Amino acid sequence: MSVSIAIAGKGGCGKTTISAMLVRHLIERTGRGVLAVDADPNACLGLALGVQPETTVAEVRDATLAGKLPGAEANRERAFEYAIHHAMAESKGFDLLVMGQPEGPKCYCAVNNLLRRYLDQAGEEYRYVVVDNEAGMEHLSRRTTNAVNHLWIIAEPTPVGVLTAKRILGLSERLPIVVQQRGVVWNKVTEGVPLPPGAEDLPTLGRVPLDPVVLEASQFGATVFELDAARPALAAVGALLAEQLGLAPKTNP
Ligand SMILES: Nc1ncnc2c1ncn2[C@@H]1O[C@H](COP(=O)(O)OP(=O)(O)OP(=O)(O)O)[C@@H](O)[C@H]1O
Ligand SMILES: [Mg+2]
Repeated sequence: MSVSIAIAGKGGCGKTTISAMLVRHLIERTGRGVLAVDADPNACLGLALGVQPETTVAEVRDATLAGKLPGAEANRERAFEYAIHHAMAESKGFDLLVMGQPEGPKCYCAVNNLLRRYLDQAGEEYRYVVVDNEAGMEHLSRRTTNAVNHLWIIAEPTPVGVLTAKRILGLSERLPIVVQQRGVVWNKVTEGVPLPPGAEDLPTLGRVPLDPVVLEASQFGATVFELDAARPALAAVGALLAEQLGLAPKTNP
């Protein structure tokens, strides 16, 4: 069984940054296969992780619908699986799958069923699955199988952050999937500054400090693997992983 961690939150709150940090920690701590899924149509997780797949799941879906999937005449299901497998960008210790643009108004039920089945199967081949979602959690709301073990709602420590975290929490409670554990991760927190009013009503998982080097790294297009392990934001995500999933850092004997 794989353990899934879904990351959600308002635009710009740090979902992609925290997803990439989680992937790095999971690789370093477990040495086991990690699947990173970029479920944001404006896909950026590849940049933070330093890999870019050649194609997206949406492109495979559209090619299937347009009857342009190579080999589909002989065996549609196998051709689909092959194409999705090809969409997987493989890197050291992890693979990245980019979902791409959501579907248009046509009914894609048959293709979506294939896709869901494949993703469920593929997910089981990895020990950990990290999903970087878009604000509306469209990807999660379209899934009907497989529970999400951990849903981390990322929010900035501002009144707008509190309001949106509350909304996303409510939205997550109405998702058609089982979410085993959910809560808010306050990101870009300044030390000594209390969380805004209303934050105390929300289930807080932890805090990640505002880290100017993390911001600078993104401005220069650096990957998460280039960050110094001692950076406070990266260390805070590591501490969260230890607390929430019981995954402590590896210690040298
Ligand atoms: N803890 C932090 N300290 C400093 N800067 C941060 C921190 N977390 C994220 N950032 C910066 O905030 C910006 C937005 O982060 P990111 O792209 O991860 O957000 P996002 O929620 O994925 O955005 P989007 O909704 O556009 O996908 C980036 O420039 C990133 O470097
Ligand atoms: Mg993002």
